[in-house]
Amino acid sequence: MPNDRLAAQQTAGFTLTGNASLLHRNTLRVDARAALLAEVHDAAALPALFEHAALRGTQVLLLGEGSNVLFAGDVEGTVVTLKSRGVEVLDRGAHGTRIRVAAGEHWDDFVRWTLAEGHAGLENLIMIPGSVGAAPLQNIGAYGVEAGEFIESVEAFDLREHRFVAFDNAQCGFGYRDSRFKRHPDRWLITALTLRLPREHALRIDYAGVREELARMGIHRPAPAHVAEAVVNLRTRKLPDPAVIGNAGSFFKNPVVPDAQVHALRREHPQLPSWPAGAGSSKLSAAWLIETCGFKGLREGDAGISNRHALVLVNHGRATGAQLWALAQRVRAGVRERFGILLEPEPRVIGVPA
Ligand code: FAD
Ligand code: EPU
Repeated sequence: MPNDRLAAQQTAGFTLTGNASLLHRNTLRVDARAALLAEVHDAAALPALFEHAALRGTQVLLLGEGSNVLFAGDVEGTVVTLKSRGVEVLDRGAHGTRIRVAAGEHWDDFVRWTLAEGHAGLENLIMIPGSVGAAPLQNIGAYGVEAGEFIESVEAFDLREHRFVAFDNAQCGFGYRDSRFKRHPDRWLITALTLRLPREHALRIDYAGVREELARMGIHRPAPAHVAEAVVNLRTRKLPDPAVIGNAGSFFKNPVVPDAQVHALRREHPQLPSWPAGAGSSKLSAAWLIETCGFKGLREGDAGISNRHALVLVNHGRATGAQLWALAQRVRAGVRERFGILLEPEPRVIGVPA
């Protein structure tokens, strides 16, 4: 079917657009295009969408709000994005309230709704951009909490088998910035999550800066809403706002390395920050490694490393995805040369050979 006939074609539950701009669909503000864009408003339409003639034989790329992707090139296949909305309380029990939320909801709106309704658990995960459907992908985490701790099950459409499936928590294989879904990209389109949230729980305020921020706020007996406010204050101070300057949050994962390597590195770099990561290994700060190499605030054309946070790759204006990726590679090579550690990108990089 020629592209012009696909333009803004409306069928039950989804819209197809040919040669679609992705500029406003990624927070790094890369001006990439997709051969075909399918916007799905109702998950029930997914079987019909994947049987549609326009998608036959094309490669599919799943996209949420684009806050964790770098389009290093155009997408030759079909970008599928699910916009389904809805939040539903399933039941309230002694072990918490079970809440089902559709993939197309905004994660941050959902977190704020849970807090307003008196549910605890997600307070440390406030202000993370993106959709609910992408939250399990990298098991989003911040300030000592990960979403996977509260996700009871994940509903998805299996693109290989063309049927709806569900995974319980153990089947999701959650890890640090990792999950079964991340290890098999574009295999399952996540359609909804069920979370179990307690009314009260032991608040996590040990992450660097949270306790100090609560003290600064004059809060001595914090409630979940206070922790959320402290996290909002910290995030606002530390991270550049994608509405002001294009970015995808942390561009690299914090590397997890054997303790022996940490001891060896510390002989030369006594200040090296590290945190226990279980089983004889430690997590290092990628931001510290990058800053120590002198890359913080670096700029090559419109591609840059934030001067507020060394882990954040920024687009000062019209950087292409290829330029941003080239700068990321330069940073990676510098850190490898100085510390012998290969940083792994955290966002999904699209359009470069694996
Ligand atoms: P996208 O960027 O659109 O997609 C991300 C990945 O998920 C892709 O692989 C995509 O194929 C896949 N995907 C998207 N939707 C679905 C779906 N429905 N089904 C299956 N696969 C899907 N992350 C953290 O963990 N912690 C943070 O503190 C944090 N802070 C950030 C701060 C800033 C300023 C920014 C810009 C990003 C930050 N991130 C953080 C990263 C980002 O917010 C999360 O990864 C978020 O979950 C991405 O959601 P999205 O809808 O934008 O996903
Ligand atoms: N640091 C520097 N230079 C900087 C910034 C930080 O040296 O410019 C060092 C400091 O030693 C600081 C340490 O890095 O104590 C940790 O910094 P921060 O608390 O900002 O956390 P991070 O490790 O850089 C991680 C996540 C963030 C998450 C925060 C808070 C990863 C890859 N990133 O960042 O997640 O919000 O912790 O929990 O794990 C994201 O995934 O996109 C993201 C923003």
